[in-house]
Amino acid sequence: MNLSIIGAGNIGVSIAKGLLDTKTINKITVSRRDINRISYLKDLGIKITDNNLDCIKDSDIIILAIKPQQCENVLTEIKPFLKNQIIISVVTGKEILDIENIIGNSCSIFRAIPNTAISEKKSMTCISCKKSELSNLKKVEELFANLGETLFVEEKLLDACTVMAACGIAFALRYIRAATQAGIQIGLDSETALKIVTQTVIGASTLIQNNKSHPEQEIDKVTTPQGCTIVGLNQMEHEGLSSSLIKGIQCSFEAIEKIKSQS
Ligand SMILES: NC(=O)c1ccc[n+]([C@@H]2O[C@H](COP(=O)([O-])OP(=O)(O)OC[C@H]3O[C@@H](n4cnc5c(N)ncnc54)[C@H](OP(=O)(O)O)[C@@H]3O)[C@@H](O)[C@H]2O)c1
Repeated sequence: MNLSIIGAGNIGVSIAKGLLDTKTINKITVSRRDINRISYLKDLGIKITDNNLDCIKDSDIIILAIKPQQCENVLTEIKPFLKNQIIISVVTGKEILDIENIIGNSCSIFRAIPNTAISEKKSMTCISCKKSELSNLKKVEELFANLGETLFVEEKLLDACTVMAACGIAFALRYIRAATQAGIQIGLDSETALKIVTQTVIGASTLIQNNKSHPEQEIDKVTTPQGCTIVGLNQMEHEGLSSSLIKGIQCSFEAIEKIKSQS
């Protein structure tokens, strides 16, 4: 299969890099208007262009990785050249119906919400499509399964998935940064602190994945009565750790509604 990505920005390039050694993909072409910023991709074997029509030529799968406000122009531009390709939009807040209203229903339209860890094949990618497109779902799931975990969800849940998976990378990274700063305060150099925090986060995630346990079960195992862990944890909760996370996630979710109404 030939695959093209319109919008070679943060997520577009991350997807292209993640897909590089995927056996089922013969050719990856990516587009953006300012191609000077992605000339380095040529050395990786990715074709680059500033022409969207050139980008989708011969493509079996077209990934849209542009901002929501750029969607209408780009879709209108490529519409006359669409046949029966699979179109996968990773655009936040643009619904399948919005896309269909512009390009019609000659293509098989999917939405996928990955995160930037897709470049490392560690994405959490949530996928959605209309019931009538389920025959192509396997192909789309297999594509993203090469790049991490996938989950098929109803389209109405995709905004929540966007916050948890796509924004979630930033939330997790902020935890890693804050914990590293704390490590430096209590005597570690920054490299050592960062290494310990990063591996500890991987360890915590692996415990949940492998044991299929609830976080609190794993926390119970490390909180000795009157010990140092529970003292620290409770202090974090007094300062609003869980509450601020929940409020932040709710704010991000509400921001998607705003983006939708503006695009
Ligand atoms: N970042 C994430 O983790 C993530 C995760 C899931 C979903 N998303 C969604 O993915 C979309 C892209 O996000 P992003 O973070 O990658 O944004 P970004 O870095 O700004 O990338 C958007 C890219 O689109 C290009 N572009 C704009 N107009 C274009 C046109 N007419 N033709 C071709 N390319 C065009 C821009 O480059 P030029 O200006 O040079 O054309 C830019 O490189 C958004 O809708 C976002 O919500 C992002």
